[in-house]
Amino acid sequence: MNRWVASVAASMVALSLIAPAQILADESERDDRLFQQLGGMGGIDLIVEELLVEISRDLRIVEQFAETNVERFRRLLVEQICDISGGPCEYSGDSMELVHGGMEITEAEFNALVENLITAMDTARVPLAAQNRLLRKLAEMRSDIIHQ
Ligand code: HEM
Repeated sequence: MNRWVASVAASMVALSLIAPAQILADESERDDRLFQQLGGMGGIDLIVEELLVEISRDLRIVEQFAETNVERFRRLLVEQICDISGGPCEYSGDSMELVHGGMEITEAEFNALVENLITAMDTARVPLAAQNRLLRKLAEMRSDIIHQ
């Protein structure tokens, strides 16, 4: 093996050793500002609780939840919001595409749920800037949820 090949091989080994440590470092420096702005775990619990109240009253979408295990839905939604806002959780539910596949959720139904979430966040006194940050993250999931 010539020296160049040896040194490339050595640096590849070094990189493979460094990379996992780097990922861990990033993980421990997770940006949890949005999680804090939402009020941490207590705040997210309250937001989801209020969201369930809003959904239960909303004739535009409540039928979609007729067969739903509400306790599982509540727990996983809290976990997901905690995760995407930088909190100390890892979402353990199914992918958005898999969960909502076959429900044929329309744009209007999606918007209705977002409206309910805004009301829930208002009730939980989440500052407007934090509301918008969370909504932006959820909007990224839109195409996995509607028309599936
Ligand atoms: C940003 C929008 C949404 C998010 C973040 C979201 C998130 C979730 C999560 C985390 C779950 C639980 C996953 C699991 O059981 O593994 C779930 C389930 C569910 N979602 Fe959504 N969802 C959204 C929009 C909607 C909309 C618009 C509807 C209908 C109008 C809907 C109807 C449901 C139903 C019925 C379930 C329960 C499925 C079951 O019983 O197995 N979701 N959603």
